[in-house]
Amino acid sequence: MNALTLLKEDHVKVKKMLSELDQTTERAVKTREAVFSQLKHDLEIHEAIEEEFLYPALKEHPKTRDIALEGYEEHHVVDEVMGEMLHLPVSDETWTAKFTVMKENLEHHIEEEEQDMFEGSLQALSLPFPGVSEPCAARVIAPPTGYRSCNRSNRAG
Ligand SMILES: [Fe+2]
Ligand SMILES: [Fe+2]
Repeated sequence: MNALTLLKEDHVKVKKMLSELDQTTERAVKTREAVFSQLKHDLEIHEAIEEEFLYPALKEHPKTRDIALEGYEEHHVVDEVMGEMLHLPVSDETWTAKFTVMKENLEHHIEEEEQDMFEGSLQALSLPFPGVSEPCAARVIAPPTGYRSCNRSNRAG
């Protein structure tokens, strides 16, 4: 499986969860908690894959080094805001405000990744983009205990 396909599929899922949450009110406690927890879990795996497979390739190249460095920071900002949201009740208006800011950041980040990293840099510069082996992909999609590195030493084939 191509890691790029995996990441694009994730983006679709992430955007769907964001708009689902966006449509809830502070009274929809159960829905907010469930969707937010799924989103946080999926994003952690997604970021880990990007930081293992995508960003290092971009960081190596002088023309794409800056965009990769920005990517790490954008992950960091989203993680921080989500971490703060975890400590607030979903019925709190501050949770909603943080969610709105986090959603805007994340959508902007996804757009930049798809346009500038996936379509632009990787293809234009013919940078290597390693495939993810099937056993590894299976573990990534349905991880029982979260993402584990799929580096060369434990990658099948
Ligand atoms: Fe990302
Ligand atoms: Fe992404």
